[in-house]
Amino acid sequence: MFTRAAAIAGILVLVSAGAAAATMTQEHPLIIGGTLTSTSEAPWAIALTNTTSATATNRWCGGALVRADKIITAAHCMTKPIGTYTAVQGRADLTDRRIGRTSRITGSWIHPGYSRTNNRNDFAILTLAKPMTGVPVIRLETNPKADRKGVVPTVYGWGDTAETGPDDTLQKLAAPDLGDAVCLANKEYVGYGYAASANVCAGYLDGTGDSCQGDSGGPLVLNGRLLATVSWGEGCAEPNYPGVYAEIAPNAKLLQAEISRTTL
Ligand code: ARG
Repeated sequence: MFTRAAAIAGILVLVSAGAAAATMTQEHPLIIGGTLTSTSEAPWAIALTNTTSATATNRWCGGALVRADKIITAAHCMTKPIGTYTAVQGRADLTDRRIGRTSRITGSWIHPGYSRTNNRNDFAILTLAKPMTGVPVIRLETNPKADRKGVVPTVYGWGDTAETGPDDTLQKLAAPDLGDAVCLANKEYVGYGYAASANVCAGYLDGTGDSCQGDSGGPLVLNGRLLATVSWGEGCAEPNYPGVYAEIAPNAKLLQAEISRTTL
């Protein structure tokens, strides 16, 4: 989460002082502009915490339960030793440690095509020490045509709200699919590696809502399936800088094979 922001900040400093100024000027909400939601609506939503996190609840990234013992998250979230992570399910308010389930992580697989240079294939699959048996899992979207301008998927996460909501609390936001052309029209986004074949461009061009730091790896859901995961953006909810999501369908075969792998 912080690495991506740092990398982007670095690029901005080197390449474009003007754009860097835009990053600094506006502060916005968490999932910014979202509303509270419950873990019964999104039982497969996972908060991935990390002991090195600067926050009181150790929140770090998002994720989604795709098998009782597997979660999908963002590759860029996996920068710390595996023993520092915990997956939390069923706890909308992360400060309420009495409810929900937790599991340590015993294994992580990073998509072999993940690139820190162009941010493509930003996927990791983690194996849970303790399977979350009985919790509904979310299915992967396998149809690349599901990424269609005009549909309205929903993004879930415990990330930054920029004071548009309580911290450490599960929020959701309807994030309209803007279509690849919108992100491809943004030169900076093309420079960061936006690709029509690998990403979903979603949110609001007027800056009213977005996913944000801490939401990475979390689910963007359409028709009950995992359309994409939170990957990156320039700031959060900056006008004309929508959220960029890692699209599942082009990778569904590979991801599903990894999810289905029997861990011995
Ligand atoms: N990279 C951020 C994270 O690690 C999430 C980025 C999403 N940004 C956005 N503007 N939609 O949590």
